[in-house]
Amino acid sequence: MSANKVPFLDLKAHHDPIRQEVMAAMNAVIDENAFAGGKFVARFEEEYARFCDAKFCSGVANGTDSLWFSLLALGVGAGHEVITPPMTFMATAEAITYAGARPVFVDIDPCTFTIDVSKIEAAITPRTKAIMPVHLFGQCADMDPILAIAKKHNLFVIEDAAQAQGALYKGRKAGSIGHAGSFSFYPGKNLGAWGEAGGITTNDPALRDRMMMFREHGQKKKYYHDVVGWNGRMDGLQAAVLGVKLKYLDQANNGRRRAAALYDKLLAGTPGIALPREAEYARSIYHVYAVRVDDRDLVMQRMTERGIGTGIHYPVPVHLQQAYAHLGGKPGDFPVSEACGDSFLSLPMFPELTDDQIDTVVAALKASVSTRATAIA
Ligand SMILES: Cc1ncc(COP(=O)(O)O)c(C=O)c1O
Repeated sequence: MSANKVPFLDLKAHHDPIRQEVMAAMNAVIDENAFAGGKFVARFEEEYARFCDAKFCSGVANGTDSLWFSLLALGVGAGHEVITPPMTFMATAEAITYAGARPVFVDIDPCTFTIDVSKIEAAITPRTKAIMPVHLFGQCADMDPILAIAKKHNLFVIEDAAQAQGALYKGRKAGSIGHAGSFSFYPGKNLGAWGEAGGITTNDPALRDRMMMFREHGQKKKYYHDVVGWNGRMDGLQAAVLGVKLKYLDQANNGRRRAAALYDKLLAGTPGIALPREAEYARSIYHVYAVRVDDRDLVMQRMTERGIGTGIHYPVPVHLQQAYAHLGGKPGDFPVSEACGDSFLSLPMFPELTDDQIDTVVAALKASVSTRATAIA
């Protein structure tokens, strides 16, 4: 196997230019002992809410907590159903389960890889309480029809915007469109902490207060607990890191868009490779650039042998995960998600990716795809 010529993600390249600035911000937290919650978290919450064009942001410990607290704060629980796509990271469904509700899956659209809005209404039952679209790979789901369906059936909409910090839907920021927007700041995300962190955006002050309560052991006043909550605070050091990195997020997202445009151009028309498409309504931030190929595992192995880092997001849709076997999902239930799970291949994607690196990835991919490919592209 040759040395890694192009890594899947190069966080060092991203952090080196801002390392001193981040270290200074972390030192300020240490000087003030503001480690759990506190003023640095409050400052980041304000800055991130402003970035998202939302009224409020509540900083939490990770993106899984942010989904869970959003559901709890909206009163979603036992006996309820939440509609979400099966092609997502497991956390989306886990949060629904941990809230006490049941995930009800709706397949994805083959062009945008986000929930197929034409199939949502058929999944609504008297128990449905919310829709949780996922802005997969940094591209927003088609929010207007989702909001219209939600309004008609009196449902909440929680955006799983874990992969979409700064993505736009018809000019509106991800996380500002539904009743709540849930973000992950996991290190590899477009806006990533130097550890674990998450955030919830909303325009509703009462909802924000409830989310704050859940992240703080259910207390509004110290040691007076109104509900059973959780320890889900964001930590001060992560808030300081995120505050610095937020200043460079637009630039970083633009770097990813530049890389995606070059991939699009160099790979266009290649037999056996289907490219991701940006919906007309969307401005994607390309958290992931996933092509679709036949014989994906073989192509991935050949890419590894050529020194190219790749990933699969995600090989097994949630309805086929062992953890959800009790829901009775079976192959064939959600054919688009299943076909994507079999064929997705995520290419290296980070803001600092150079044109030369992209050329190397493209050449390796063209040489790696199956010559018998027919089903794809
Ligand atoms: C779509 C989606 N939802 C939720 C999460 C959960 O976020 P976290 O890992 O910060 O808990 C992630 C993170 O990977 C994600 O990609």
